Amino acid sequence: MLSERMTEALNKQINNEIYSAYLYLSMSAHSTFIGMKGFANWFMVQYQEEMVHAMKIYDYINDQGGQVKLMAVAQPPTEFGSPLEMFEKTLEHEKFVTKCINDLVDLAIEEKDHASNIFLQWFVTEQIEEEANDNEIISKLKLVGKGGNGLFMIDKELAARVFTPPATSKEGEA
Ligand code: FEO
Repeated sequence: MLSERMTEALNKQINNEIYSAYLYLSMSAHSTFIGMKGFANWFMVQYQEEMVHAMKIYDYINDQGGQVKLMAVAQPPTEFGSPLEMFEKTLEHEKFVTKCINDLVDLAIEEKDHASNIFLQWFVTEQIEEEANDNEIISKLKLVGKGGNGLFMIDKELAARVFTPPATSKEGEA
């Protein structure tokens, strides 16, 4: 059973995750537009992962007998500058999401809501991976600078990322 405050906070997080999906879909579209197909693929996979995150919370609220309430999704930016700037924005956004997850865990602890605390641990771990992925790509982009060859290599590497759907949104790694 979820408190009203926890239900509201989790509903807000569904919105944050769907906005994340929307932001990365916009980055994918931008990457396609500037001819970086590998970057476009990476952000498309990221978009799909964010929708899995949103649906995990959606299912959790339902399982706990709470009411899912969907909210308006803000318009994401459509221009992102260089690939490096785009990944710096991605990392900045993920740091915001990490803070939101930490706030949710704080609330679960404050309310002695053990089920939500356990549920949220998956997201705590996921955020470490999300930030690490972004940091790694940012380091590579800084290393190659504006060099066309280096960017081409990174674009090729990012083209290999594949989305693995979880068996259900309630289990496993997205
Ligand atoms: Fe669902 Fe990228 O945080």
